[in-house]
Formats: sequence, structure tokens, C-alpha cells
Amino acid sequence: MREIKTVGVIGLGTMGAGIVEVFARGGLQVVGVETTEELAERGRGILQASVDRAVQRGRVSEQDRDALLRRVRISTTMQDLSGADLVVEAVPEVMAIKDQVFSALDGIVGEDCILASNTSSLSITRIAAGTDHPERVVGMHFFNPAPVLKLVEVITTLRSDPEVVQTVSALSTALGKKPVVVGDRAGFVANYLLFGYLNSAIRMLEQGHVSREDLDTAMRVGAGLPMGPLTLMDLIGLDVCHHIGDVIYGHSRSQLHAPSATLEQMVTAGRLGRKSGRGFYTYARTGGSQVVPDELTPQNGEQAGVERVAVVGEGTIARELVGRLEDGGYAVTHLADASGDLSAVGSVGLVIEAQEELDDTEDGSVADRDVDDLFRELGQTVAEGTVLATVNTYSAVALAAISGRTEDTAVLRVHTPTGNGQVVEIGRTTATSARTVELLRGVVRAMGAEPVVCRDRTGLVVDALLISHLNDAVRMLDEGYAGAEEIDTAIQHGLGYPMGPLAMVDHIGADEVLVLAEELHSGSSCLPREALAPSPLLVEHVLLDLPFTGR
Ligand code: CAA
Repeated sequence: MREIKTVGVIGLGTMGAGIVEVFARGGLQVVGVETTEELAERGRGILQASVDRAVQRGRVSEQDRDALLRRVRISTTMQDLSGADLVVEAVPEVMAIKDQVFSALDGIVGEDCILASNTSSLSITRIAAGTDHPERVVGMHFFNPAPVLKLVEVITTLRSDPEVVQTVSALSTALGKKPVVVGDRAGFVANYLLFGYLNSAIRMLEQGHVSREDLDTAMRVGAGLPMGPLTLMDLIGLDVCHHIGDVIYGHSRSQLHAPSATLEQMVTAGRLGRKSGRGFYTYARTGGSQVVPDELTPQNGEQAGVERVAVVGEGTIARELVGRLEDGGYAVTHLADASGDLSAVGSVGLVIEAQEELDDTEDGSVADRDVDDLFRELGQTVAEGTVLATVNTYSAVALAAISGRTEDTAVLRVHTPTGNGQVVEIGRTTATSARTVELLRGVVRAMGAEPVVCRDRTGLVVDALLISHLNDAVRMLDEGYAGAEEIDTAIQHGLGYPMGPLAMVDHIGADEVLVLAEELHSGSSCLPREALAPSPLLVEHVLLDLPFTGR
């Protein structure tokens, strides 16, 4: 394995400047190259701001920062890369520009120099084919923000020299990164899985299934991911998302990746995310991360007050609900025996059905009372305007129709994923009134959870997005593109998830994931049915009771 002492980075945008910082932090000499003095200055600014922040946060001493900056030379002359042992390009994702850069490099660097591309979507095989020595070309794909996220996807081609791959991989490890070596395929591991999920999230927004704020809350709090999908796309850049999405769709031809009209229009209209000051959200300044209100920001509407709440049913969820509602300041009537007299709920503002579901009762007996029957009677018993809800997996539409309380009925789904907080999804029908929705939002907040309002479709938001995302990861494993460890490392360290998707399947339980995936596939989810078919490998793992990880 050769020794890498001096590294060149071409292109000093967000990614390039971040990559410069990673190398310099690792003690290497770095030459950063831009095309103009103005762009070089911008790159210097990004680097300076990032290292200054590290000093402010006490992560780096002023002395270390100054030493780091002394290791970096920024230039506008490609010739300055002549002494480099490795050059990473991070120029715009246009093949003609990449071709220009690599053929120029062929004439500048020494024979032993490794050439790497940070491309997120273009074919490394194609880039290598345009060079004099394809055996020294690999992908070295970093994740934004590069100084924070540990993943480096090392992309090999049929021509890559194994010693080059080993050197880049060992260097990544020495820099504190987590390299994952995989072959050349559209989107590699992390983006391939990420963009199916992001596309599904845009589809939900397009269909008016959920608001942008609630969509992000659902996945950040309800699924425990570091950012909501729309916030993340604004960070990545919508033009970049559009481009990567197109490349992946060109390979997969799956409905999951079918280009979104919304994304296309936003890019055409110049709404590129943080970098243009406006994407799905509006930002206080171009390039900043602080969101400011705009015309889509929800106004705090008049909130219907409710003081008395009834919980119907016995069991863990019912008891927890009673405790949390009482802590939230409500007077709670607990009807543990759902088959008893319902007259006690006549004067409450909200009734929540929370009987143990059939499968959940310890002795396998049926729940106290048939829910259809219960809602029919509630419809005849409760006062006008009393809101009816269930935490069980019944359809809000069916319960609204049975109770006759079409404006006042909704379903509630509780998610407690990572101890990050808790989301309660409120599934509404087309007839559920704004008053009912606001009343339920208020109650959920009073219980110390975050409300997410959406249409009552299979999987609501969290399960629909998360389970299809996990199923997609199992499908990738089944296709043999990457192993379980590679997939999990890529997603955990490239996207900052609390654990990899296959570890998540094991954590939730493969059987539970399969049940939810089957429900999504056969149900009324707003995602494309074809893309939701449970992976045959998921079925195998459930039948054989095999975990995906730790074997
Ligand atoms: N540069 C350097 N450091 C940064 C940074 C940046 N741009 N942004 C955040 N940080 C550092 C902070 O200084 C902080 O460090 P300390 O804890 O040591 O002080 C740490 O990261 C956490 O930052 P914050 O507390 O400000 O914010 P956070 O906890 O919300 O984390 C985040 C921010 C790291 C961005 C996190 O939300 C995250 O991991 N999000 C997921 C991002 C993601 O998925 N990226 C991949 C996109 S896909 C891609 O890049 C590939 C492609 O090809 C398009």
C-alpha cells in the first residue's frame, strides 16, 4: 500500500471545502483548487467558518486550528497538484466537466497518483474510461456535512487496481471515517436507499396527505431520524436531489424513484433549498439554516378547548393514556370495562377507544367489545360535538360512518421509536372537521407528544415511509449489491440514522415489519403499490427466524 501525504481537492463548494477540512484535520498537506479567485475565496470562507465553529464549540484549540489551516493551500492553478499522492474531484455533476478535469489531471500528476471522484450519481466506470489509467480511478463519496458524517463510499470499477482501493479505504479509516467498498451502481448504497424514501416523502406532500411541517416532524421525532425529509432535501440542494433522482430512476425504472413533478418545478423556479434561500422552507439568508415563516407556515388557529376526556378499555395503552391525560390537566373518566354502561361518557368532550387489540391480550381472548358496536352506541350516547377517536388499527372512515359522527371522528397512532420524543399521528377522513383536528392536536401536545395530522391511509406517515424504506434496504441485500454490514454502515454513518436499516428491522422485529409491509402493499397507502411488495428475503428471515445483523 502506498503512503498518502499530500492530497489535492478540486472544486471548493460545500462538499469540496468539507473534504479539504477532513484531510487537513487528519494531518495531511492539502492543495485545494478552484477555477477563479472568487470561488477560491468562497471555499476559503467555508473552511474558515467551519474550523472557527469547531473552536467556539471547544472541539479544537486555536493552535490546532491554525496548524490545520497552515496545512491547506488554496490555488487557482491545476499545476499545483503535480506533487499530490491522491486527488479528489468535487466539481459540478456534469460529465463533460468531469472529463475535462480528469484528462487535465492525467497530464499533471505523477504515475502513482490516485484519482478519485466525489460524484454522488455519475458512473465511476464512465469517468475512469475517459482517463489514460482507469486502474487508478475510484469513487470516494463523502456525505454532507463531510466533517461530521463518517461514511466514505469507496466505489470500484471492473478496472480498479485492488491496491488503489485498499489504499483509499485505509486512508479513510485513518481519517476517522467508515469506508464501505462497493461496486459501481446508480446511487451506490446510501443515495439509492435515501432517494426512494425522499421521493415517497415528496409524493405524500404533493398529494396533500400531510403538511410539510408535520411530514418532517413525523420522520424526525416519530422515526428518530436526524432530520425530516424536506429539511434534508433543502440541505442537499433540490437541483442535486433532482439530478440524483433521475440517475437512479434511469437505472431502477421503479415507481419508487419516478421523477416528481414538484421537484422539477421547484428547480426550474430556482427554489434550490438553503443555497438559494428558499426550497421547501424559506431561510433567513442564502446558505443559512434558520427557517423563517412564509405563506405556508401554519397559523395557530382557534383551539377548541376540552376539559373532560374518557378513555375506554383496559390494558397498558389505556392506562398510559389515562396517566398522561391526567398529567396534561384533563379530568379523565376511565371506562375500563368497555362492555359496561356508556352513560358516564355522555358529557365529555373527547372519547378515546383504547381496548387491547385481539392479538395483544395475554390469553388470546377477544377485546372487551366489538369496536363497530362500541362506536355505533357512542354515536347515540355522546353529546353533539364530542370527538371520537381510537388508538387501534381501525379505519377512521368506517368508524365515522358507523357512529354517524362524520365530522368528529379520527384515529390516533402512537410512535415511540428512539427515546427522542414521541409522535402521535392523527389520521383524519375527508369529513373530519378542522375543529376536531385542532382539538386533538391540543390534547396530544398536552400529553407531551408531537402531533402529526394526515389523511387516514394505510401506514399514515411514519409506518408508510419507514417500513417501505426498510423493505427497500432488505431488497438491496437480496439483490446482492451490498452486504448487511455495508448497508447498515452506509446508512448509519452517511445519513446519521441512530442505527442501520437492517438493525432497525431486527430492533422492530422482522415479523412486525413484514406484517406492516404486507398491510402497506395491500392497503390504501398513498405510495406506489408496485414498490411496496415485501422483499422475499424479509419473508425468508421471518420464516426461518433469522436476524439480519450480529450473526
Ligand atoms: N460543518 C461542520 N460541522 C458541522 C456542520 C457543518 N456544516 N453542521 C453541523 N456540524 C457539527 C456541529 O459543529 C456539531 O458538532 P459538535 O457536536 O461537536 O459541537 C455537530 O455537527 C452537530 O451539529 P448541530 O448540533 O448543529 O446540529 P445537529 O445535531 O442537528 O446535527 C447534522 C446536524 C449533523 C447535519 C445532522 O442533522 C445530520 O446528521 N443530518 C443528516 C444529514 C444527512 O443525511 N446528510 C447526508 C445527505 S446525502 C449526501 O450528502 C450525499 C449526496 O451525494 C447528496
